[in-house]
Amino acid sequence: MPVINLSLCTRCLKCVKDCPSNAITIETGFIAETCIHCGHCVAICPETAVSPDSGSIIPLCPNLVSADHFRELSAGIRTCRSFLSKEIPEELLLQLVDNMKHYPSASNARPLQVTIVRSSEKMKLLNTMTESSLLRMFSFVTSPLVSPLIRLFAPSISISKLQRYKKSFLEKRKSNDSLICHHAPAALLFHGAVTKTGMPEADANIWATYTSILANTLGLGTCFNGFIVKAMGKNSNHNPFFGIPAKHKVYAALLIGYPKVKYVNECSRKSPEVSLI
Ligand SMILES: Cc1cc2nc3c(=O)[nH]c(=O)nc-3n(C[C@H](O)[C@H](O)[C@H](O)COP(=O)(O)O)c2cc1C
Repeated sequence: MPVINLSLCTRCLKCVKDCPSNAITIETGFIAETCIHCGHCVAICPETAVSPDSGSIIPLCPNLVSADHFRELSAGIRTCRSFLSKEIPEELLLQLVDNMKHYPSASNARPLQVTIVRSSEKMKLLNTMTESSLLRMFSFVTSPLVSPLIRLFAPSISISKLQRYKKSFLEKRKSNDSLICHHAPAALLFHGAVTKTGMPEADANIWATYTSILANTLGLGTCFNGFIVKAMGKNSNHNPFFGIPAKHKVYAALLIGYPKVKYVNECSRKSPEVSLI
């Protein structure tokens, strides 16, 4: 629990008003069990009278990133599918994970764990297991027996797209290339327990997005990987090979490494349709 030092508190009530779970009784400094440990009380107190659950209070710097900087940054971050065969220093990988303490989480539940796959042997395994699992699925769905049923009962599944994927996967495999891991030196797997009420998938995609932005500011390239999520999210048989608990599901995967390519132009794409109501 955060702790309120009443001798420093000026009763400005900023923490009381900002607390999302109405957990603070300032007269006594009591914080109720409904506290979700979001740390807003610590963040908002001008007197540094509230100590966090763990660690110390660090003053924030004024926002250094302008809207123009952010626009430039986001325009320059492109999916990387071509990596140098250069290892990422462990400190850098751990820096990416350490910063995850700042990312949002539904109800501040923070249900995710992160596995960093970085040995070449495990990266190869991640690639081949994902490939085999997807090829099995493509073969099943596109088979003459099953595909008519899919067309009838799940018309949103494009059989021709899966056939194209299957062909490309097999071609790449023949030339010892990969459509999945693109020879990235590392992958971050965001996983957590399966839940009916929580939102770990949303958390995982948000955390992977922030991580991708931070990684790019550190000179790394990233690739969100839906193939790995499709294969590992469905099939927890893969989990033990990567030290992931059997009851966990992989909700997001991010390939990461030093990019071989450099993008120099911004490309215009359509912004989403908007309704102002
Ligand atoms: C949820 C998600 C899953 C993705 N999965 C893959 C993938 O498995 N393999 C891949 O090469 N790219 C993957 N991508 C990258 C997209 O193809 C890419 O974002 C898109 O083509 C736009 O290009 P850009 O990221 O360079 O702007 C994924 C992106 C997202 C957001």
